[in-house]
Amino acid sequence: MPETTDSAAHAPKPVQHTGVPVLQARNLVKHYPGRGGRIGHRSAAVRAVDGVDLALAERSTLGLVGESGCGKSTLVRLLMALERPTAGEVLLDGEELLALPTTERRRRRRGIQMVMQDPYGSLDPRMTAEQLVREPLDIHRDPADARARSRKAHEAMELVGLDPAHAGRRAHQFSGGQRQRLGIARALVLRPRVLVCDEPVSALDVSVQAQVVNLLRDLQREFGLTLVFIAHDLAVVRQLADEVAVMYLGRIVEHTDRDTLFEHPAHPYTRALLSSVPDPDPRRRGRGSRLVLAGDPPSPSNPPGGCPFHTRCWKTRETCRTETPAPAPRTGTHDSLVACHFPEA
Ligand SMILES: Nc1ncnc2c1ncn2[C@@H]1O[C@H](COP(=O)(O)OP(=O)(O)OP(=O)(O)O)[C@@H](O)[C@H]1O
Ligand SMILES: [Mg+2]
Repeated sequence: MPETTDSAAHAPKPVQHTGVPVLQARNLVKHYPGRGGRIGHRSAAVRAVDGVDLALAERSTLGLVGESGCGKSTLVRLLMALERPTAGEVLLDGEELLALPTTERRRRRRGIQMVMQDPYGSLDPRMTAEQLVREPLDIHRDPADARARSRKAHEAMELVGLDPAHAGRRAHQFSGGQRQRLGIARALVLRPRVLVCDEPVSALDVSVQAQVVNLLRDLQREFGLTLVFIAHDLAVVRQLADEVAVMYLGRIVEHTDRDTLFEHPAHPYTRALLSSVPDPDPRRRGRGSRLVLAGDPPSPSNPPGGCPFHTRCWKTRETCRTETPAPAPRTGTHDSLVACHFPEA
C-alpha cells in the first residue's frame, strides 16, 4: 500500500455508541496479589484496573493515555482476554470470550490481534521475516496449503510497506521501523477486526514514528479496523485517535472525542496532562495558566479514598475526599464521560 505522507491531524470520526459495541468492558477489575511485604504477611493487592466500563463501536480508534502504572497495559490485556479479570467482563460482539468453549474462543480470538511495543524484543531473531509473518497462519494451519500461507505472508508484508523480496531476511537485518512493520504484518495476517497496540511507536526513533502512525491510520481505514492503542506521546494520540480515554489509578476518569479532549478537557487530571506538553499551535501557546502535576500518582496498592485524584488536584473539596465520583455524561454532550465532582465547564 502506498504510504501517505500527510501527518496533519485527521478529522476524527464522531464517537458513536449505537448498536452492539465490538468490544465492551463492564465493571472490569484486575487486582494482582501484593508483592514484597514482610515474610508471612501479604501486602495489599495492586489494583491495576479498578472498575472500567468501556464500549467501542466498530471502526473506532481509541487512544488510551495516562501516567506510567495507571493500568493501561493491564486493561488491554484484559480486553484481549489474555488475562482473567478479578471481576467484571469483556464482551466481543456482545459475547464474553472467556465464557466460550475453548475451540470457539480460539476462533473468535483471531478477530482481535495485538502489536507489541518493542519491535526488538518481541520478534524471534532466528526466524526469517516470512516465518515470522506466517507463524500465526501456521498455528491455525489456515490455509492448509503451506504455499498459500507463504503467499498470504508476502501479501501482509506488502500491505505494511515491506518488500516481499526481503522475506528471507532475519528480524535483526531490519531497522526498528521495519521490525515494527513486521510486527504489524504478523498481527494483520489473520485479518482481525480489532487491533490492539500497546505503545506501538514509543520504542522507535522519532523520525520513523510518524511513518508507522500513518501506516496504522491507513490500515485502520482500509480494513475498517477497530483500533485500540496506548500512547505516552499526546501528539501521536492527536494524529491517530477518534476518541480518547484518560486513565488514572486503574480507572477511566475521562472519555470523549479527540477534539473535545484536546480543546475542552473536563477532568482536572486531563487538563494537567495536556498542559505538561507545549501546545503545537503557537497562537494558543501561553494562553491560560500552565498546570503542574506535582509528584507521582499514589500507589495502586493503596489508592486514596474518595476521588483517586484528590491528593493532587487543585480543586479538591471535602466531597472529593469522601465520595468517589462515577463517570457521568458531561453536561451538554451525549458521549463525553467525566468522573469528577467539579469538572471544567
Ligand atoms: N503481572 C503483574 N503482577 C503484579 N502487578 C502487576 C502486574 N502487571 C501490572 N502490575 C501492576 O499493575 C499496575 C498497572 O500496571 P500497567 O502495566 O497496566 O500500567 P501501564 O499504565 O501500562 O504503565 P506503563 O505506562 O509504565 O506501561 C502497576 O502498579 C504494575 O506494577
Ligand atoms: Mg504499559
